[in-house]
Amino acid sequence: MAKIESEATSLQEREGQSEGTSFTAMRDSTREDYQIIARYDAEFFAGLADRILSHLRLLGGTTGGYAVDRLTHSLQTATRARRDGRDDEYVVCALIHDIGDILAPANHSEFAATLLEPFVSERNRWIVEQHGVFQGYYFFHHLEGDRNMREQFRDHAWFGDCAEFCEKYDQNSFDPGYPTEPLESFEPAVRAVFKRARRTIYSAKGESKINE
Ligand SMILES: [Fe+2]
Ligand SMILES: [Fe+2]
Repeated sequence: MAKIESEATSLQEREGQSEGTSFTAMRDSTREDYQIIARYDAEFFAGLADRILSHLRLLGGTTGGYAVDRLTHSLQTATRARRDGRDDEYVVCALIHDIGDILAPANHSEFAATLLEPFVSERNRWIVEQHGVFQGYYFFHHLEGDRNMREQFRDHAWFGDCAEFCEKYDQNSFDPGYPTEPLESFEPAVRAVFKRARRTIYSAKGESKINE
């Protein structure tokens, strides 16, 4: 959190010292205004990986009744995926698949999938988006729910991929005795995945680095 605050402060300080825009309503903005804003946006975008890492750390310390806290669960899921030979993009998806637990407890899967959507393959995004339904196979029946809710996707091309993610990496990652790698070991992969957005509406013809 401190890092996010100091980053915002430094941007504000620079805004006070250097160029800024003059409009108070977007309808009055100019092309020059948005060239200035695009430069700020590019700098802010470059801090995305740090903001992801900071938010992941918020998952530490709260177990929700499980044997490990949510950060350890996330790290363990990513560790298992990496040790199984998955590439960086998949491992990062595993790492942040539950990042929505804090802000989106009612739809945490969709939250993480939306965050990942500009940066990863459609298959990896879908796995993260649907993992909540597929993970339910292991416990919905304990809550009077339908553990076979995932069957609605039985004919989907990526049914097996999502089922595999949950079976091999997610449902079994609540083990305090498993040798789980620290967050620092995943930082290079997080920085690589969130460096460049493949899909965004903010292309701005090269003025912004968002879409480089
Ligand atoms: Fe989850
Ligand atoms: Fe999970």
